Amino acid sequence: MEKKIRQLLEDAKRFEADSPEAVEAFRIAYLGKKGHLNALFADFKSVPADKKKETGQQINTLKQFVTGKVEEMKSALSASSGADAIPDMTVPGKSMPVGARHPISIVRNQIIGIFTRLGYNISEGPEIEDDWHVFSALNFPPEHPARDMQDTFFIEKDPDVLLRTHTSSVQVRVMENTQPPIRTISPGIVFRNEAISARAHCIFHQVEGLYIDENVSFADLKQTLMYFAKEMFGGETETRFRPSFFPFTEPSAEMDISCRICGGKGCNICKYTGWLEILGCGMVHPNVLEHSDIDSRKYTGFAFGMGIERITMLRYEVKDLRLYFENDARFLEQFSAAF
Ligand code: PHE
Repeated sequence: MEKKIRQLLEDAKRFEADSPEAVEAFRIAYLGKKGHLNALFADFKSVPADKKKETGQQINTLKQFVTGKVEEMKSALSASSGADAIPDMTVPGKSMPVGARHPISIVRNQIIGIFTRLGYNISEGPEIEDDWHVFSALNFPPEHPARDMQDTFFIEKDPDVLLRTHTSSVQVRVMENTQPPIRTISPGIVFRNEAISARAHCIFHQVEGLYIDENVSFADLKQTLMYFAKEMFGGETETRFRPSFFPFTEPSAEMDISCRICGGKGCNICKYTGWLEILGCGMVHPNVLEHSDIDSRKYTGFAFGMGIERITMLRYEVKDLRLYFENDARFLEQFSAAF
C-alpha cells in the first residue's frame, strides 16, 4: 500500500493541466467518490495496527497535496485567461470627480497674469528672514514705531531671525542683485502676530510689486494700479487714492475701489462709504534705493502691496477669511468652475 501511495503522489506531482476540464478530471480521479483517495481509505481498514499511524499520515499528505494542487491549477488558469481576454469596450466609463483649485491660488494666478501681461517678472525669496531685508533696508529706523505696524514673529534675537511680515523683503533682494530697469512682483506667504478673526489671520498671502527705471512717476503708479483694478474687478470699477504712510515709500497712498456689492451707494460690506481698500502703494523712498546701491538721482520707482485673501474676499464675496484655511470641501468645491 505504501508503494501505491508513493506512486499516486509521484503521478500527482507530475500532472500538468492545460484547461479547466483537465483540472476537473484530475480532481475527480483523486478526490471524487470513486477516486484514489476513497479507495485508499477503504483499504486502510486492512492495514496492520502497528502500521496504521504511518500509513494514515501518508494518505493525508497525498490528500493535502492534491487539494492544494487543484486550487493552484485553477487560479493559474483563471489568471492567464484574464490577461489574455479582450476588455469589454462597451462597458460604460467611470467618471472622475473634478477637483477645484483653492480660491487663493485662483486669485494669485489672476494677479500674476495681469502683471506678467504688463511685463513684470516673478521673484521669490525666503520666508525666514533677517532684520535687514524686512525692516532696516526698507527705511524702518531702529526703535521706530512703524515696526509696530507689523507684529513680528521672532525666531531668534540678536541677530534677529524672523518670519517675514511682508514680501517687500523679496524686493530688497532683487534690488541688491539687479540694476534697473526692474519690474517684478513677489507673491508669497507672510506672517504677523495677530489674533485670528473673520478679517485677520496670522498667516496670509501677499503680492507686492516694484517698478524702477528712469523717469518713473506717480502717474505711472496710478495708471498701472487703475488698470489692475479694472482687469481684476471689471471695467466699470472706479478707483481712488488716499494719502497714507509707509517708511519705504514717499509719498505713500492706499487705493480703494468702488464697492462692488452696492455699486457705491453704501452697504454693510463697505461700511456705508461706497469704497473698499485693496492695497498700499507709493514712490520708492530714495533711502531704499541707496541701501541697495541704486542711484536715486538717476532712478525713481513705485511699489505696491496687496493681500490676496482680501482681494479674494471682494472678488468672490467670501465673508470670513478663516474659511480659506479650513479645507472644508463644501467651500472649496464652489470654485471648481474657476481656474
Ligand atoms: N509692504 C506693505 C504691507 O505689507 C504694503 C506696501 C508695499 C505698501 C509697497 C506700499 C508699497 O503692508
